[in-house]
Amino acid sequence: MQFFLDSADIQQIAELTAIGLVDGITTNPTILAKANRPYLQIVKEICAIVSGPVSVEVIATDHPTMLKEALIIAELADNVVVKLPLTPPGLQTCKELSQRQIQTNVTLCFSASQAILAAKAGATYVSPFVGRLDDVGQDGLVLIGEIRAIYDQYPDFNTNILAASIRHPIHVVESAKMGADVATMPPSVLQQMFKHPLTDRGLEQFSADWAKTGQTILAAA
Ligand code: G3P
Repeated sequence: MQFFLDSADIQQIAELTAIGLVDGITTNPTILAKANRPYLQIVKEICAIVSGPVSVEVIATDHPTMLKEALIIAELADNVVVKLPLTPPGLQTCKELSQRQIQTNVTLCFSASQAILAAKAGATYVSPFVGRLDDVGQDGLVLIGEIRAIYDQYPDFNTNILAASIRHPIHVVESAKMGADVATMPPSVLQQMFKHPLTDRGLEQFSADWAKTGQTILAAA
């Protein structure tokens, strides 16, 4: 399973990427707007840190403008993935980009029927929004399982399931159980995934016991 960070925070991206567990980045217009800097600069900085896929979303809602924006975005870096909304113009653009071998991420997916359309349009990734479905009283994780079951029946569907709108580590764990190919999460969720009080307590104990011996591994080498 791949892990993407859903963020445009350069410092956090650099810190977490250094650990070696971040495979890519997703952004959306809200995330980029929060950064409050020219988007082009942010995207270039992200692509310089992360060699994996970096999703950048179009803003237009009509097909001709969306295609123009998509082609500009696709030129930003070799690892840029064009993010498109799950609408008829979005999927029309997706189909054209996939024919040109440009990577795509179809976003705002809230149903299995929408995920089928994204696969038929040749999307590289489809992003079902787990947390936002939970917010309206539906089980977002069930959707991940449904999409997995459908995609697995059709070898010509090559779309990766990118579990998005992840709010906590249990969403990541359950998405993994459901067979999501990727989970994109805010930096805070990746940080939470490391945490367990027994890890901290165990490490304290090991350090204290070792200190009593007066030995050091480095000095003995
Ligand atoms: O980038 C898409 C998605 O991950 C947004 O998440 O938390 O705003 O629902 P959220």
